[in-house]
Amino acid sequence: MTTINWGLIGGGRGSQIGPAHRLAARLDGLYNFTAGALDHRAEEGRAYGQELGLEPSRSYGDWREMLAGESARADRVDLVTVATPNNTHFEITKAFLEAGFNVLCEKPLTMTPKEAQSLIGVARESGKICAVNYGYTGYALVRHMRAMVARGDIGKVRMVFTEFAHGHHADAADADNPRVRWRYDPEMVGVSAQFADCGIHALHLATFVTNQRVERLSADCVSLIPSRTLEDDAMVNFRMSEGTVGRLWTSSCALGRQHGLGIQVFGETGGLRWTQEQPNQLFYTPLGGRTQIIERGEGGLSPEADRSSRVTIGHSEGMPLAFGNIYSELATAIHALKAGQTPDLGLVPLVEAGADSISAIAAVARSGNNNGQWVEL
Ligand code: NAI
Repeated sequence: MTTINWGLIGGGRGSQIGPAHRLAARLDGLYNFTAGALDHRAEEGRAYGQELGLEPSRSYGDWREMLAGESARADRVDLVTVATPNNTHFEITKAFLEAGFNVLCEKPLTMTPKEAQSLIGVARESGKICAVNYGYTGYALVRHMRAMVARGDIGKVRMVFTEFAHGHHADAADADNPRVRWRYDPEMVGVSAQFADCGIHALHLATFVTNQRVERLSADCVSLIPSRTLEDDAMVNFRMSEGTVGRLWTSSCALGRQHGLGIQVFGETGGLRWTQEQPNQLFYTPLGGRTQIIERGEGGLSPEADRSSRVTIGHSEGMPLAFGNIYSELATAIHALKAGQTPDLGLVPLVEAGADSISAIAAVARSGNNNGQWVEL
């Protein structure tokens, strides 16, 4: 297979998520990092791109320049990752799809349900791939959980408990730091802060593992740091399409917690438990039996888990490798598209999943502003 030219927008020096994308895209030798518009400051973005090995002519000062430059090239990038702050996702993703590029957009896909619906249309019309980086679904054992649920290992799923609660924005004295502040600024993030930033990962994980959609929810949203107009903590109850009861907690003020993403699924004949900080073990308890530890890399796992695992059992695989599984499946799909075939997007979260999350964000804000009233998505 020839390597795919890949471009990155955002993810500049010191950014949180840029390094994970650069590692993930190049992990399996499937992509060349060829172009970028890495920073909101043109000169800083150009300089950093060149430090990372981009040709000067392809280390762009901003994304519009990159769109024009790459559109004009025969060897243009085939996949563009959008890793900028949330309020830019819609405009950049739409422009690149319309110009015929495949796009992997960071979550949340857009700021409003209307924009998300419009992107579904743009993506379908373009015939290109529009994926959303719910990268934690790339973990081998998350995929194994999904396979276990699908084949009935824990019976009908009664309840799912999912959380994404960290403590990194708990310092009231640091609330005005620009790196923190944008995450709570309605201009930058829309109607929700912590739920839109982290809660949607937890909610998406619930839909991914159970293969159900969220139908309605009730949210209790609070600002534990009073200067914030948007929530930094939320408890969300939800109901899923096959009747599963959902509970979700998200917080950025949970001091002592680091990443804090995890999921538990409780069925009629068994339970499963997985956390992002120990991603190589999955805990399985059959009804009436002892808790078993399923190790990533052991024999006899599902095909989804086997193909998502690179190193042998006993060695840790972490987040960039999970993101790498999204990139490798996108590479296979892009090669299929280029060959005129229908791509198999496997387990990659697509624009429709991104749009579901945006509906959930709107519903959480609506419910949170109405004393936790239940609302339909
Ligand atoms: P950050 O604030 O650490 O970095 C943002 C980067 O984007 C900076 O380098 C900035 O200069 C650049 N940038 C801003 N506007 C730009 C523009 N118009 N053109 C080009 N570059 C621009 O933010 P962080 O945490 O890296 O988040 C970026 C996005 O990734 C957000 O949407 C966030 O929700 C998402 N994210 C996703 C994660 C995941 O697990 N999937 C984890 C962390 C963030």
